[in-house]
Amino acid sequence: MTNRKMIPPEEFAANLFDLFHRKWFLLTSGCFGTRQFNTMTVSWGFLGEMWMRPTAIAVVRPQRYTLEFMDRYDSFTLCAFGESFREALKLCGAKSGRELNKVEAAGLTAIPSESVSSPGFQEAELILECRKVYRGEFRKECFLDKMIPQEFYPGKDFHRIFVGEITQISGTGAYRRNAE
Ligand SMILES: Cc1cc2nc3c(=O)[nH]c(=O)nc-3n(C[C@H](O)[C@H](O)[C@H](O)COP(=O)(O)O)c2cc1C
Repeated sequence: MTNRKMIPPEEFAANLFDLFHRKWFLLTSGCFGTRQFNTMTVSWGFLGEMWMRPTAIAVVRPQRYTLEFMDRYDSFTLCAFGESFREALKLCGAKSGRELNKVEAAGLTAIPSESVSSPGFQEAELILECRKVYRGEFRKECFLDKMIPQEFYPGKDFHRIFVGEITQISGTGAYRRNAE
């Protein structure tokens, strides 16, 4: 079992570019209690400060099964893993929960969160629990760099944007400043 402990936001330490771009997260939304949830790999998003709250932003294209859960439930989690879970994250980023039970296929174990209904994973080295506070979407007319919609949204499948208040961070010592 991964040795995670609670980390206050001001003690959290990570290279955010590395976390999103190289390491990736599993974005999970739903309810652990009823087993109604779905997970998918994400590598785009933000962590920071907004409205006096530690905040995470996840972006989800409309065709993702996970979007149905993001819309229906009031929370999500972002989980990061060690390198040995790369294949599991690739699978969760290639297959849809509409086709198979990805959690089982990836060999992951869902666990209840402390502060939200959406589960995390026992194998994660970092879990961010988030309460949804805003939902929006990118709109073509708002892009100032017109190359972005051309390059990233030829099918007009603009990402939905979910802002979550981070209600709890738990992670290994690697994610804590001045960890003993
Ligand atoms: C490395 C990686 C990063 C991804 N990042 C995102 C993302 O930020 N947003 C998104 O909508 N899809 C992203 N995807 C695609 C989804 O993970 C993928 O379509 C997944 O199969 C959706 O599963 P679902 O239908 O069960 O929700 C990413 C895929 C990979 C492999």
